[in-house]
Amino acid sequence: MRATTLLLATAALFGANVSALTRRETTNAFTNFVDQFLSPNNAKVAASVNSTLFAEDVTGTVDVSTNFDGRELSTEYLFGLFVNVGQDERPSPIGVPLSYNVTSLAVQNNYVFASIKFDFYYHSLNLHYPVQIDLWLLFNEQKEVQQYDVAFRRWAWATDNLAPLILPQMAKYANITDTTDPAQILTRYTAPIICGAHQLYCKGDNQQYTDYADCMAQVGKKPLGTFYRMGEDNILCRSLHVHMLPLRPSVHCPHIGPTGGGMCVSRNYTEVVLADHFPKGFIAPKCVKPKNLYGPRGNGNSTA
Ligand SMILES: *[C@@H]1O[C@H](CO)[C@@H](O)[C@H](O)[C@H]1NC(C)=O
Ligand SMILES: *[C@@H]1O[C@H](CO)[C@@H](O)[C@H](O)[C@H]1NC(C)=O
Ligand SMILES: *[C@@H]1O[C@H](CO)[C@@H](O)[C@H](O)[C@H]1NC(C)=O
Ligand SMILES: *[C@@H]1O[C@H](CO)[C@@H](O)[C@H](O)[C@H]1NC(C)=O
Repeated sequence: MRATTLLLATAALFGANVSALTRRETTNAFTNFVDQFLSPNNAKVAASVNSTLFAEDVTGTVDVSTNFDGRELSTEYLFGLFVNVGQDERPSPIGVPLSYNVTSLAVQNNYVFASIKFDFYYHSLNLHYPVQIDLWLLFNEQKEVQQYDVAFRRWAWATDNLAPLILPQMAKYANITDTTDPAQILTRYTAPIICGAHQLYCKGDNQQYTDYADCMAQVGKKPLGTFYRMGEDNILCRSLHVHMLPLRPSVHCPHIGPTGGGMCVSRNYTEVVLADHFPKGFIAPKCVKPKNLYGPRGNGNSTA
């Protein structure tokens, strides 16, 4: 009896502020979302800055980077990043999404779990390369993404394979003749790009370093990082955020600055994993049971 009451109460809590879409509506919203991610559609979305593909108060996470909350950041990082990378002739670990196959899909009311194999195109390498992305989405009743949780599957492996291909290009671009140390190449290729962009876009109140030389010195002291930890206090994280500088310098300049502006900051693995980032979790309605309850809404021991 008590268990039933608890179950009903928690179901009401979960269901209360997201009214149900039909499976067809949710599936269509999902397909539209993924289609918009492809080039060249993504350019139009990126240009809108405040894309209504997302709810205004969207919360999101991308595992190889960090959290992106709100429409603007979500539009910039999920769409703008891939557009700007596509327009840049320089070698990059990020490709341009050209097509996809959905290989796993489950839809219940407003919730979607999907796994998608994308064909990413790497300009500098003239290479088509598959990248698999797993994602959980929650749509609101306007069919906007209310929450997203995106994981790049095997990204560490993918970039391990890409590195030996792009490193010689980076060395050539940066006129590095001693190409024995990959970390040296990456640092010497990346730091001038960060600092050059800083000089170009981060002026006045947005300035982070006193000048180019100061930037090179301070960035050079940071650890290089890895392509799968681009939300931490390292050089590669800053190189990711460089792509955002032209969009909104006042927001993004701090991300390449000495403090990392809340994006490129030191993080604790345990705290990141255990954090409750999503207000509603991703428990599909038919799975709402006290033992599945999540974070602030209780964890099975809850007496709420
Ligand atoms: C996005 O929308 C919000 C809320 O309407 C607004 O405050 C903000 O200025 C918009 N951002 C841009 C870059 O247009
Ligand atoms: C998608 O499926 C088609 C048909 O099987 C295949 O040719 C293509 O390589 C697949 N692309 C990706 C990225 O999985
Ligand atoms: C590399 O060398 C060429 C030729 O000397 C020069 O034009 C170019 O600016 C250099 N590139 C960098 C990144 O220093
Ligand atoms: C990470 O956070 C956990 C929990 O707060 C703490 O026990 C641990 O010592 C921290 N690890 C590091 C490396 O700071």
